[in-house]
Amino acid sequence: MTGTFPSTRLRRTRASAWSRALHRENHLRPDDLIWPLFVTQGTQIEEPIATLPGVSRWSVDLIGSRAKEAASLGIPCVALFPNTQPERRSEDGAEALNPDNLMCRAVRAIRDAVGDDVGVLTDVALDPYTSHGQDGLVDAAGYVLNDATVEVLVGQALNQASAGADIIAPSDMMDGRISAIRAGLEAEGYVNVQIMSYAAKYASAFYGPFRDAVGSSGLLKGDKKTYQMDPANAEEALREVAIDLAEGADSVMVKPGLPYLDIVRAVKERFEVPVFAYHVSGEYAMIEAAVAVGIGEREPLVMETLLAFKRAGCSGILTYHAQFAARLLNG
Ligand code: PBG
Repeated sequence: MTGTFPSTRLRRTRASAWSRALHRENHLRPDDLIWPLFVTQGTQIEEPIATLPGVSRWSVDLIGSRAKEAASLGIPCVALFPNTQPERRSEDGAEALNPDNLMCRAVRAIRDAVGDDVGVLTDVALDPYTSHGQDGLVDAAGYVLNDATVEVLVGQALNQASAGADIIAPSDMMDGRISAIRAGLEAEGYVNVQIMSYAAKYASAFYGPFRDAVGSSGLLKGDKKTYQMDPANAEEALREVAIDLAEGADSVMVKPGLPYLDIVRAVKERFEVPVFAYHVSGEYAMIEAAVAVGIGEREPLVMETLLAFKRAGCSGILTYHAQFAARLLNG
């Protein structure tokens, strides 16, 4: 045999499906998924969300059946977001503290439906409850106040914990809120309620459909750049994560997802802790828009996207494609 040949043929292990399966480094499973669900007022209501095609808001009486579906698909956890009635929104977001608000009623409905078979993650931030759409209390100039907001967030977290939430997920980006919430949970005896901190949450253009879903987009004046992170920053994300872990977070989240996989990888390598990512509403909507105009097919687009999160180092992914992906994975 003469002539030159490559000393290594990486194509050898790719030549057949069995061999590709054997050499596959990362896998997506239903138990990697957290399914975000939107809750709305009323009974027997499934309300499609125009900017999130395929996603609906569910009334509390129907939310238990969503959780049953999660259980049967092997999705371990759902995340809840309320579309608070306009008349219950106020300057101070006090509805967040109401033990009978949509969120708390939905948590109890899920508990009734599936017991402990599915975890319930609740978002801590005031934006679904404020008349101005900001995540916290604002001063006369509209600036979001840190310490005063944290006090309310502790009350919100305790309200959710007393309804039965398993994971408290602060998405507000106030400084010091993890230690304050952790102290509050400990003081009230909720020692096993987890905190998944939205530690590196960016001021992103990808949240638009979510704000429609919770009904805050028409209300929001200005932006969230004085508390959410600058998309240009990576070192700062590591500082955020370090602080939230030191303050008592059990796991951390990076958000949005796909454009920030470098942050996921950096956090995983630096801290070796459970890292989650939120494949956010705008990312979901972009895939659905691509499918709608024939640019690609949903199944391969979704599966490649979700697998990328695993490859980057995620323990799990919050995604509106959770139900779709779990169905495929279950065959
Ligand atoms: C609330 C919150 C937001 C998202 C999750 N929690 C919106 C925001 O910060 O404006 C976005 C999720 C998504 O876009 O899917 N603080």
